[in-house]
Amino acid sequence: GQKCILTGLWRNELGSKMQIQEVKGDGTFSGEYKTAVSLARRPIQPASLNGSQHFDEAGQPTFGFTVNWKSFSDSTTVFTGQCFVDENGKEILETMWLLREKAKAPNGWEATRVGTNVFTRIKGQNV
Ligand code: BTN
Repeated sequence: GQKCILTGLWRNELGSKMQIQEVKGDGTFSGEYKTAVSLARRPIQPASLNGSQHFDEAGQPTFGFTVNWKSFSDSTTVFTGQCFVDENGKEILETMWLLREKAKAPNGWEATRVGTNVFTRIKGQNV
């Protein structure tokens, strides 16, 4: 079947968008994440992301990336997931994320959030 390459423009069920640039020969990539939602008081701005993906024969690779929200928030999010391509060529990125919010002291039980996001490719934008 068709192989999934992360390069391109994606949107998740929250309405957040990310643009992933070229995936390099060693699997590393970078891009930009525009979240639709935020905990921060300051207005949302685009944030840079950096990650890496496998190149597997079946074309449904696992990957991970980190988003540093430094332009408007003290928190950091890591995503890990897998790309799936169905028989019609439709790609989804099934992910889970962890968000660490800045805590005032160690052992803050409330400082980490976890969730899932599913991304689909924004049509005609597979750069
Ligand atoms: C912050 O609020 O401190 C920064 C923005 C965090 C947005 C989170 S990351 C996980 C989840 N998925 C999204 O697309 N947005 C939220």
